[in-house]
Amino acid sequence: MRMRCDKTPAWAELQAQFESSAQRFDLRRAFAADAQRFDRFSQQAPHVFADLSKNLIDTESEQLLFTLARQCALEDYRDAMFAGAPINHTEQRAVGHIFLRNQPEDQLIRASKAINTIANAGAQAAQFAPVLVEPALVEPVLQAMLAYADAVRADARITDVVNIGIGGSDLGPQMAVLALAEFAAPGQRLHFVSNVDGQELAGVLAQCKPESTLFLIASKTFTTTETMTNARSAKEWFEATGGTDTSRHFAALTTNVAAAGQFGITTTFGFWDWVGGRYSLWSAIGLPIAIAIGSAGFRALLAGAHEMDAHFRSAPLEHNLPVRLGLLDVWYRNFYRFTSRSIAPYSSALRRLPAYLQQLEMESNGKRVDADGQALPFDTAPVLCGEPGTNGQHAYFQMLHQGTSVVPVEFVALAKPGHGLPGHHAKLLANALAQAQALMLGKADSGGHKHFPGNRPSTFLLLDALTPDSLGALIALHEHRVFVSGAIWGINSFDQWGVELGKVLATDIEARLVSGDAGGLDGSTAGLLRKMLVK
Ligand code: F6P
Repeated sequence: MRMRCDKTPAWAELQAQFESSAQRFDLRRAFAADAQRFDRFSQQAPHVFADLSKNLIDTESEQLLFTLARQCALEDYRDAMFAGAPINHTEQRAVGHIFLRNQPEDQLIRASKAINTIANAGAQAAQFAPVLVEPALVEPVLQAMLAYADAVRADARITDVVNIGIGGSDLGPQMAVLALAEFAAPGQRLHFVSNVDGQELAGVLAQCKPESTLFLIASKTFTTTETMTNARSAKEWFEATGGTDTSRHFAALTTNVAAAGQFGITTTFGFWDWVGGRYSLWSAIGLPIAIAIGSAGFRALLAGAHEMDAHFRSAPLEHNLPVRLGLLDVWYRNFYRFTSRSIAPYSSALRRLPAYLQQLEMESNGKRVDADGQALPFDTAPVLCGEPGTNGQHAYFQMLHQGTSVVPVEFVALAKPGHGLPGHHAKLLANALAQAQALMLGKADSGGHKHFPGNRPSTFLLLDALTPDSLGALIALHEHRVFVSGAIWGINSFDQWGVELGKVLATDIEARLVSGDAGGLDGSTAGLLRKMLVK
């Protein structure tokens, strides 16, 4: 059994430490007292330099957090994931996205080795046998998908690629395609349609011609209502506007190859149930990324993520960036009781990073019960929100500086710009540094309205440049940091039962919107339904 964090001795020590001193921690005093603070609380991980020094943490508190991690058997749990054990126990599935970015020599990992690893990991992890992942399946599918991607890129007849998918089948690929636009081949436009609001699909179709459009139907399950509705409408449009040869103009990215076939799609790239939707951009779901940046670029994305995997897997906890970030998240959520985290990518190319991270963090760790289904007496995932800087500064940073709640901010910046326009990048970086500085230092003013309290924490992540490999590392860093906090909280970060109820109710309500039957509904839903009847 994993020990739940609130039952460990370290949890009580952290609480005592918080009450006796940490709650009065002052960043300005901490820097004044320790000339080495920046070095002590910053580190280089693969492709990502992280400055944690502007956080409300000292060596003593961080040591206690490492002790907490050890008492919660974090390393065993991590090793169980890397061994292919079914740690997503409510769905009896392994958590295998990490196997999608193994380099070819690592493909030799076999189930037997994985079983040994679990056995050696001791009692904490032994419960996770048997192994459900067969990593050797990965490379052939990857090769087929990348060959297809390169063929699409070279096909001058295809001018528009439309990805139809939602959630993990949209957010990751969309975020990465925008982030790596600098590396994309010219001449092909990539569109992402996710919303069942027909306005979105109609707007894209208005820009496309059937003979020059490729539709990618991206759905792990191939049952998601929004995606299926959009896919059907796209197929009807294709046929109605004279499109022929569905096999050339439609491809499916799914674990449900049979359903794709029934839909009439013969070009299918599969993946496996051990790849979670929000962790699936490394699989066939990443096809739009591969079309945008080519097979070499996609392999570089995987390689960057793999470097971060290796770091997470082998670096001692004290020098392990995903571990340090995940533990900081626990420190803030459960002891400081901060409810939110703001993501501030100072990069227009990373403008969809906040949306992507919302799903990653909130769908993974927005849980209220422990692994045994018992209600938790402490908080889990924070609310994530954000916009690229400097735009956010002119919108909601007011609240970050002077609001009544403290919201830790996570800056992401690039040392080198992805464009050649002179004068812009220094202004952009100066703003990122200035905001982090202003949050920390504040400004005394007796007038009240102009007073900035300061001591507001932030983390600063710096990439040398935004490239396929650095983006891969950045995403994997976030995946693993979410793993760490979820592991400490003792929750299953890999299921998402909370999305099911709304889906069931929507099916019922959709029929009522046509029939007008409001019988048995609550007063508000019935009242609104009568105002919305679909004629
Ligand atoms: O409803 C939530 C969810 O299941 C996400 O976890 C997932 O990323 C998304 O829907 C899309 O699912 P699918 O890829 O199966 O269409």
